Amino acid sequence: MAYDYILVERRGRAGLITLNRPNALNALSAGLVAELNAALDEFEADDKIGAIVITGSEKAFAAGADITEMKELDFVTAYRDDFISEWDKVGQRRKPLVAAVAGYALGGGCELAMMCDFIIAAETAKFGQPEISLGVIPGSGGTQRLTRFVGKAKAMDMCLTGRLMEADEAERAGLVSRVVPVGDVLEEAVKAAQKIASFSLPAVMMAKESVNRAYETTMAEGIRFERRIFQALFATEDQKEGMLAFTEKRSPQFNNR
Ligand code: HXC
Repeated sequence: MAYDYILVERRGRAGLITLNRPNALNALSAGLVAELNAALDEFEADDKIGAIVITGSEKAFAAGADITEMKELDFVTAYRDDFISEWDKVGQRRKPLVAAVAGYALGGGCELAMMCDFIIAAETAKFGQPEISLGVIPGSGGTQRLTRFVGKAKAMDMCLTGRLMEADEAERAGLVSRVVPVGDVLEEAVKAAQKIASFSLPAVMMAKESVNRAYETTMAEGIRFERRIFQALFATEDQKEGMLAFTEKRSPQFNNR
């Protein structure tokens, strides 16, 4: 499929989606988000892909929703069309998503990064929810995911003052999993995705589902959910292969079934 606003590649079993609207710092227009979801649909349906990286440019992962496109929007239209509900589809993906962030990840760009399962940041990364300076608030999880990831004090600070958080603070606060030099961020993310994709896909998907459960339920329910999923994995061929390979002192050959 041909895309106008993104680049799509395969790197072994890792899918790579690069946001590509350089003139607008990858502002997330409706067209771009539709293409992103189409590319994710394609990778999710592809047995040869086990994990997906989303990245932008060195200057900007994404500078937010496209302000030019939404500036004349009225409430009735926004409500009737459920404006930006399409974005949620990114956060509902079942295969792992890794965000490789350099430069600005602002507004919807920060929200998009947070919809991924983890963020690998370049030292140049800057995260922010500056919507308050436009007379609005974050609309795609910024007040919710950010608060769960970095806590109330920092989330309030960012959403109320619009201040940006640099990579080292983001790592200390738990927003990003690793910080690397800007020249390495994409390769580091692709390597992580390839590593994930080398494991049993059902186990990987269940691990993702189980970790995400921690954000949706009580500890007791989460522990019970995890145990049931853990038990279920003994029904897979990959569990037999993984444990047999360990006892035979060789690498496992997972077949993802
Ligand atoms: C549309 C944008 C844009 C955006 C940048 N551009 N961000 N266009 N929507 N979000 C465009 C600029 O208009 C400009 O186009 C070009 O990209 C380069 O941007 P500059 O501002 O010239 O670059 P610079 O001076 O380096 O400043 C970088 C920046 C600034 C600090 C990131 O661009 C900025 O503040 N952008 C807006 C960030 C923001 O407020 N994001 C939140 C959006 S609201 P021209 O044609 O002039 O060269 C949002 C709501 C989410 O995300 C709700 C849920 C989805």
